[in-house]
Amino acid sequence: MTVMTSRIPGFHNLEIPERRERIEVATEDNPGRLPIELANQMIENVVGTYELPLGVVTNVRVNGVDRLVPVAVEEPSIVAAASFASKMVRAGGGFRAWADDPVMIAQVFLEDVADVDAARTAIEATADDIGAGVDRACAGLVARGGGWRGLEFRDLGDGLVVVHLLVDCRDAMGANIVNTIAEAVGERIAELAQGHLGMRILSNLADKRRVCVEATIPFEVLGGEAIARRIEAGDRFAHRDPYRATTHNKGIMNGIDAVLVACGQDWRGVEAGAHAYAARDGQYRSLTTWTVRDGALHGRLELPMAVGTVGGATRIHPGAKRSLAMLGVESATELAMVAAAVGLANNLSAVKALMTVGIQEGHMRLHERSVRAAAAAREAALEGGLA
Ligand code: MEV
Repeated sequence: MTVMTSRIPGFHNLEIPERRERIEVATEDNPGRLPIELANQMIENVVGTYELPLGVVTNVRVNGVDRLVPVAVEEPSIVAAASFASKMVRAGGGFRAWADDPVMIAQVFLEDVADVDAARTAIEATADDIGAGVDRACAGLVARGGGWRGLEFRDLGDGLVVVHLLVDCRDAMGANIVNTIAEAVGERIAELAQGHLGMRILSNLADKRRVCVEATIPFEVLGGEAIARRIEAGDRFAHRDPYRATTHNKGIMNGIDAVLVACGQDWRGVEAGAHAYAARDGQYRSLTTWTVRDGALHGRLELPMAVGTVGGATRIHPGAKRSLAMLGVESATELAMVAAAVGLANNLSAVKALMTVGIQEGHMRLHERSVRAAAAAREAALEGGLA
């Protein structure tokens, strides 16, 4: 689907069929439904499937391209907050984003390495050979332009060593590929180090695969310089205080996870990587930076983002396929940039509200709506003799 614009004034006021028509998505209730037979092939002990609301974040523009962003989430106000903030960012030109090459880390752990310096020398001297072994273990990926990108040797002390194999996974999230690679070349690495082979597994701290998104919002769009300065001050609390940083980053992940769930991604991996990255200097801090300069508020979010547009659930789950089609992304990197943009948008909305009117005003309005819906459902069940 080609999206001409993601700016759809009054989208939230439309009835559901009108919304579908407006963004040209299928008119059935849930064309993305997961058939039970498919569910049974995806995991073990299946007894059913589980649904969430699927919404659309409007107003998102990333690197000059408009995106209608599907989000699957149970919490009220996340979609409204992301759409509202994306509208402000759009007025400042939209999100600017970029990303590292999609390089994943496969870890090969070694124990009882008696001479760590000799192990390092042997492994580094044999890197090309190890790389050839890696590429043999992922020939399909090499054919698509990915594969071996190098290694890192890390001394963990007390005879423990870990070797990082760096692998460009192109549009795959890459967990299966790098696990296979680590198992294929692990023995050889242990022999070279004259140590015992430990575990072989990807690292979810995918810090070679970072995404970065920025936004510039002129003062007048925010409602004045004073509000911009409140947001800057709110961000500072999260830089200094891990208790606040945890909540601040949870707000960012509200948006990111909702995109990832809608698109069939391993959001637990992205969550784990995000929080570890937030603590990379030894203190857990906010993943964003908001600063005031040159008549505008400037926001920046940087985090590891291991996502894929091929393989995994994206290959089989009808809902994930539909979401990716709605988004119109052509690569895993583009998906990462859009997800990060929604994360930054949610953070902007939250910090703006928290440092001005408070969060409860907007939250409660939307919360009341779901309380009313729950009460109506209970009533209907009672009338139907179901409760
Ligand atoms: C609630 O889901 C998210 C917030 O707590 C985020 C934040 O405090 O920045 C509102």
